[in-house]
Amino acid sequence: MSAMNPLRITAFASGRGSNLLAILKNIEEGAINARVVGVISNNSKSGALQMAYGRGISGYHITRRHFSADEDYEQHILDVLAELGTDLVILAGYMKMMPERVVRAYKNRMLNIHPALLPAFGGKGLYGQHVHEAVLEYGCKVSGVTVHLVDADYDTGAPVLQRCVPVKDDDTPTTLAARILQVEHEIYSEAIRLFADDKIRIEGRRVRTLP
Ligand code: GRF
Repeated sequence: MSAMNPLRITAFASGRGSNLLAILKNIEEGAINARVVGVISNNSKSGALQMAYGRGISGYHITRRHFSADEDYEQHILDVLAELGTDLVILAGYMKMMPERVVRAYKNRMLNIHPALLPAFGGKGLYGQHVHEAVLEYGCKVSGVTVHLVDADYDTGAPVLQRCVPVKDDDTPTTLAARILQVEHEIYSEAIRLFADDKIRIEGRRVRTLP
């Protein structure tokens, strides 16, 4: 068990929140020395936000529409993250572009998960089922999962962990998504554990993990 203080995580999520749930379970079981201190969503009906409310985690519905200027919106996000004492930001199915100012403030401390092997099948428009449709249309024999640092663009930050998932001949986007999601639920927690245990070293785009 690490002697370090638990890593304080704030999660951004827009949808059902199955990745967030897997992470919460691993934390509850003591597998990660961390605490989810807040959940932020652009979608007031998101499963992720309901999950936060149900567990006594601070939940925030934050959307650009509630602010008259970009600056105010960005500042509000930064204020909430600071109030929560956030060490690490995780995006778990967050469908909005993170403002560049927020990305900069959490440089090398913001993660995203993508259901493919980046840099293939990433970028604007490649999210959810679209990713798996594109992989199958191309005829790929493997796909996978990437946990990566977040930079100012979609899916272009340096990979932290990647894992392959086989594509089967009879796969549909739905069956492939389900096989990939299982792996997502494993490796997002693995990546967070590396941060919680201070085992990540970042040199440019090379993210090394200490033994
Ligand atoms: C996952 O497939 C993740 O890779 C992508 O969005 C989906 C979120 O699923 N970024 P969930 O809300 O965690 O169930």
